[in-house]
Amino acid sequence: MSQSLKKVTLITGASSGIGLELSHIFAKNGHDLILIARSSDKLYQLADELRNNYSIQVASFANDLSKMSEVQYVVDAIKSEGAFIEYLVNNAGVGDYGKFEDQDWDKIEQQINLNMKTLTYLCHAFLPVMKTKNTGHILNVASTAAFRPGPLMAVYFATKSYVLSLSEALSNELKDTNVYVTAYCPGATATNFAMNAQATNSSFI
Ligand SMILES: NC(=O)c1ccc[n+]([C@@H]2O[C@H](COP(=O)([O-])OP(=O)(O)OC[C@H]3O[C@@H](n4cnc5c(N)ncnc54)[C@H](OP(=O)(O)O)[C@@H]3O)[C@@H](O)[C@H]2O)c1
Repeated sequence: MSQSLKKVTLITGASSGIGLELSHIFAKNGHDLILIARSSDKLYQLADELRNNYSIQVASFANDLSKMSEVQYVVDAIKSEGAFIEYLVNNAGVGDYGKFEDQDWDKIEQQINLNMKTLTYLCHAFLPVMKTKNTGHILNVASTAAFRPGPLMAVYFATKSYVLSLSEALSNELKDTNVYVTAYCPGATATNFAMNAQATNSSFI
């Protein structure tokens, strides 16, 4: 990030699916963007495309947001540039299909870290300045999975219930301010999600 950014929107999981679409929508509306995902090639290509098409500034971080050290690195880098994150889109999320006891612990931990811990950390990192400036919006991507338990995707569904619960509670805490927290709860959407979650034959998502 070299040049100073204006009305900045941070989008996690920008390299594909819902995050990619949201990146185009925010860009079209003139927001400067900070995009995060692991796939550096896709991310840098997207950043170039959005800069060229919409005359906005775009910074990107190719980092693994399931690793707290990398999350902290990104947050510190953004804060050290003095960028004001006016819109925070916590979109990055993963699932894993299968019986709980048969699932790989690393994949369970990745879901917990990315879907809940990192989302919470980013809200906690950027909400105070939004509140001080009395303007801002956090969009947390939950799912229709937030509204019920999900056998064979038990951890994923539980993480999305957490996202919905946290978002509603924060929204209530902020009700007398101009800072808003929204939980976005899409149903099944044609992205890479089901394939990555080994859930293409599942009727749950
Ligand atoms: N598709 C659906 O049916 C559906 C329904 C309801 C809710 N959702 C939610 O929508 C959100 C977006 O999913 P999607 O459907 O758009 O899936 P997707 O196409 O697989 O996109 C997921 C995005 O998250 C990024 N990501 C994954 N792991 C990451 C990590 N460890 N660190 C940083 N970025 C990571 C991916 O980029 P890299 O691989 O490059 O890191 C990608 O940009 C998720 O929270 C998901 O739970 C999806």
